[in-house]
Amino acid sequence: MYETWEELENSIQNCKKCKLFQNRTNIVFGTGNKEADLMFIGEGPGADEDLQGEPFVGKAGKLMNMAFLALGIKREEVYIANIVKCRPPSNRNPEEDEAVACLNYLRNQVILVKPKIIVLLGSVALKNILGKEYGITASRGKWIEKKGIWYMPTWHPAALLRDDTKKIDFIKDLKLVLNKISDI
Ligand code: URA
Repeated sequence: MYETWEELENSIQNCKKCKLFQNRTNIVFGTGNKEADLMFIGEGPGADEDLQGEPFVGKAGKLMNMAFLALGIKREEVYIANIVKCRPPSNRNPEEDEAVACLNYLRNQVILVKPKIIVLLGSVALKNILGKEYGITASRGKWIEKKGIWYMPTWHPAALLRDDTKKIDFIKDLKLVLNKISDI
């Protein structure tokens, strides 16, 4: 574990801990307020994120930005990161070995940010952070507390692009988050 952002960010620069390094343009480390109370964890970079080096800047990210705007969440006030920092080919899910290889970076980010609440965006984030026994359909919208951090699983923004009804759930879940953050 690194105690400073500089050390952590330096440690990832030439990462070859898994095969995803082979096709990456940029490592997508994370973005936002490094002292945020609220953190969002997605799955992994897509094509746009790989090109720009920033999480959630493509189609799904734009939809998430619209939800943020509607709810008064400022992107620069929260911290946003992913389970894996390099793009899986053809946007497939990260494989087990890739997620395991990358997770210590994310754990270190969580330790440095010290968020009160973490929103888990989709099944990959949920299972890798809280355990394989959790399913997104049953877990979304329900608080789970572990080691002093409150987790709110919700749909991945890409799922909202495919199914409009999930947008309502997503907004509902983020409203729960906003209500709680003012209480803790
Ligand atoms: N999907 C993710 O899970 N993360 C991103 O950064 C972009 C799309």
